[in-house]
Amino acid sequence: MTELDDALARVTDEGLRAQLQAGIDALTRQMRFGLVFERHLPESVRAYGAPIRPGDAVQLRADVGGAEYVVEKSTTRAVTARDADGNVAEYKPRELVVVKRFGEPAYPALRSVDTVVRSQERPFHSVINGENYHALQLLRYLYRGKVDCIYIDPPYNTGASDWKYNNRYVDGQDRWRHSKWLSFMEKRLTVARDLLKPDGVLIVTIDEHEVHHLGVLLEQIFPGYLHQTVSIVINPKGTGKLNFSRTAEYAIFCIPDNGENVIRGLPADEAELLVGKRTKESQEWDAANDADGAWEDEATDVAATDPDDEGAGDDEADEEDEAEALARTDLPFPVEDLPLWELRHARRRGGESSYRPQRWRQFYPLYVDAATGLVVRAGEAPPLTEEPTFDLVDGLTPVWPIDSEGNQRCWRYIPSTMSELIGEGRVVLGRPSPDGRGWTINYWTPRVDRKKYKNLWWSTLHDAGTHGTTLLHKFLERRDAFPFPKSLYAVRDTLLTVVRDRPNALILDFFAGSGTTLHATALINAMDGGSRQAILVTNNEVSAKTATALQKKGLLPGDDKYEAQGIFRQATKPRIEAALTGRTPSGKPVAGTYFGGRPHAEGLEENVEFFDLIYLDRDAVRRGSEFAAIEPLLWLAAGGVGERGHSDETADYSISDSSNYAVLFQRSAYSAFVKELRDLPRVTRVFLVTDSEPAYRQMVSRLPVGLTSSMLYRDYLSNFRINTVEAYR
Ligand SMILES: C[S@@+](CC[C@H](N)C(=O)[O-])C[C@H]1O[C@@H](n2cnc3c(N)ncnc32)[C@H](O)[C@@H]1O
Repeated sequence: MTELDDALARVTDEGLRAQLQAGIDALTRQMRFGLVFERHLPESVRAYGAPIRPGDAVQLRADVGGAEYVVEKSTTRAVTARDADGNVAEYKPRELVVVKRFGEPAYPALRSVDTVVRSQERPFHSVINGENYHALQLLRYLYRGKVDCIYIDPPYNTGASDWKYNNRYVDGQDRWRHSKWLSFMEKRLTVARDLLKPDGVLIVTIDEHEVHHLGVLLEQIFPGYLHQTVSIVINPKGTGKLNFSRTAEYAIFCIPDNGENVIRGLPADEAELLVGKRTKESQEWDAANDADGAWEDEATDVAATDPDDEGAGDDEADEEDEAEALARTDLPFPVEDLPLWELRHARRRGGESSYRPQRWRQFYPLYVDAATGLVVRAGEAPPLTEEPTFDLVDGLTPVWPIDSEGNQRCWRYIPSTMSELIGEGRVVLGRPSPDGRGWTINYWTPRVDRKKYKNLWWSTLHDAGTHGTTLLHKFLERRDAFPFPKSLYAVRDTLLTVVRDRPNALILDFFAGSGTTLHATALINAMDGGSRQAILVTNNEVSAKTATALQKKGLLPGDDKYEAQGIFRQATKPRIEAALTGRTPSGKPVAGTYFGGRPHAEGLEENVEFFDLIYLDRDAVRRGSEFAAIEPLLWLAAGGVGERGHSDETADYSISDSSNYAVLFQRSAYSAFVKELRDLPRVTRVFLVTDSEPAYRQMVSRLPVGLTSSMLYRDYLSNFRINTVEAYR
C-alpha cells in the first residue's frame, strides 16, 4: 500500500484526502487475509424472573426467538408495549419475558442452587446454568489470566438443528448458518482468550462441518499460538451417508508459542494405548466393560508392598516447595541438569493405599535439623499398635507422614530406600506445615521418560457410544437424557495433555452439556490425588421436540415445569451428582466400573456447587446491600475455599474467617490491613476498594509478596457490569 499512501499524501484537498483514506481503509479491511463473514448482531438472552420495566425489551414467552417489543408502561396487571412498526398493545405480565440484548449493560451474578459436598479438603467445582457469553464476561473478572485449560465442545452446526442462535434452532436451510455460527463463536472465544494463563491452552473439538472455518477463526483470535490438530476416533464403526464413513473428529489445540513443550508428553505405556495398541487389561475391560483391574497408580501400589519396590505414583510438589528447594545452593545435581529432574512429595497422597495400615513399614519419622533445614536421617517404622512421638531426638525434629486432617499416611519409600535418597541429598524440606509440627517433605527424582503425543488417537476408550451414551445411561438410568455426550475417557485424555503435570489446574468448559468435563477432571484427580478445579457453564436448553410437546400442554418457557425438562436440570446436574456420590438419581449404586477397576458406585471425593446465572436489577438491589450481592463472586474469584463470608462493608476492612480473601474498604486503614495480613498466610487474595487507579497501583506496590489483588469500584455492581464496549474488543 506504500504507493497509494504516497499518492494520497500528495492530495492537497483535505476533505478529498480524508474521503479517499476512508475508502482505502474499508477496502483494506475487506482484503485482509482470513475470514470475512457477516457479524450478526445483536444476540439476546431471555431473563426469566426479571421485573418488567418501562424501556425494557420484551418477547412473548410462547414465541421463542420471535419479535421484540419495547415496554411503555408496566403495572402488576398489564404491560403496554410497542412493536417495531409503532403499534401499541396491552399484554398480561405473565405472557411476556424480558430480553437482555447483547450490547446493553447488564449486571450478572450467581445464585447458588445446590451443592454436593464429599470432603471439605477436596476441590470445589462450579457449574453455572446460563448463557455462556454473559457467564464468560463475569468469569473474566473473576479468573482473568488464571485458567490452565479451556476445553470446549461447541455445537457442530451440522444443519440438523443442533444449536440455537438467538434462541432459535439453526437448520440446514438457513443460508446464514455458517456466518451465524462464526459470529456466535467469535464473541465467546474473544472473551475466553483473556481467561487463559500465559501458558494456558484452548482445546476445541469439532467435526468436518465447521473445522476449516473454525481453524481460520482461531488463528485470528489467537495469534502467537501454535494451532495443532489431533484426530480422535470416536466412532470406530463409522457413520455418514455419502462418500466416506466418518470415524474421527478433531480437537484443535491453541498452544502458546513460547518455545517450550507446553504439552508435556505421556508415559510410554499410555502412549501405546492412544494409538490402537491394547494392553491385556484394556482388552479384558473392553470385553467385560466392568472387568476388575487396577489403576495405573494402584498397579504400582500393589508392587509397592514389596519392601524393595515402592512405586513412584504421580505427585509433583507444589510451586512454592519447588521455589524453596531451588533457592538452596546444594542441589543434588549440577544446576544445568535441572530440566532432567522433578520435585515430588515424599508423602503418598490420594488413593487408599497411602494410609498407614496398608503400608505400616512406610510410616516412620524423618529427622530434620531445624537449624540447617536439612533432612538428616530416616527412623524405624514402629509397629501399628504404637503411636508416633514428637519429642526431639539428638536435637533433631521428627516429621511423620501425617496429613492436614491428622490421618496417618505413609512415605513413598521404606526407610532403607529413603536413607539412600537422604544420603544423596535428594530429600528436601518444603514449607512448614500449618500445625507447626513439621514441614512438607519432597524428594528430587529423574523425570519419567515421556513420549510425545501423536496427533492421531485410536483407542476403544474414546468410543462415544460405549463411554459416552452408554456410560451416561448407567449414571442416570435413562437413555434419552442427553444427545451425543463425549466419551469420558476421550475428555480425560484430552485434558491430560495439558493438566497431567498441573495438579492444581483450573479447567473451564463453557459448552458443558452433560458435564463430562467435570467428571473427567474428578477422575484425573482420583488417579493422582490432584486438586484440579473445573468450572462449567451450560444452558438449560429444551430440545425442539420437547418444547413443542410442552407448549401443547400449555406450559411456557420460564415455567418451572417447562424448565425442569432442560439439559441443565435433566442431564448436567444429575450426572455430576451421580458421578460424585456414586448414586443414580433414584438412589441406586451406579453400575459398572471405571477403566482400571474403580467401581462407579464409589463416587469421587470432590465437591461441587451449582449456580444459576441471574441478572441483578440495579434499582432493586437495596441500597447498602450491593456488597452482599457481589460477595459470593469475590469468594469464587479467590478460589471458592472455605466458608463463604459475610463481610461488614461499614468496617475499615474485612478478613474472612475461614476463606482466603480479604477486602479493604477504607484506604486510610491500608497499613493496619497489611500488618494484619502479614501474619495470616491463609489469605492469598485481596480486594482493594477504590475508584482511583493510581491509588490502587500505589497500594498494590506495597502489598506483601504472595498476595494477588483486584481493584473494586466503590459502586460495587459496576465491577460486574458486562456488555460494555470493552467486551467487544
Ligand atoms: C455439544 S454439547 C457439549 C457436550 C458435552 N461435551 C458432553 O460431553 O456432554 C454443547 C452444549 O452447549 C450448550 N450451549 C449451546 N449454546 C450455549 C450458550 N450460548 N450458552 C450456554 N450453553 C450453550 C448446549 O445446550 C449443549 O448442551
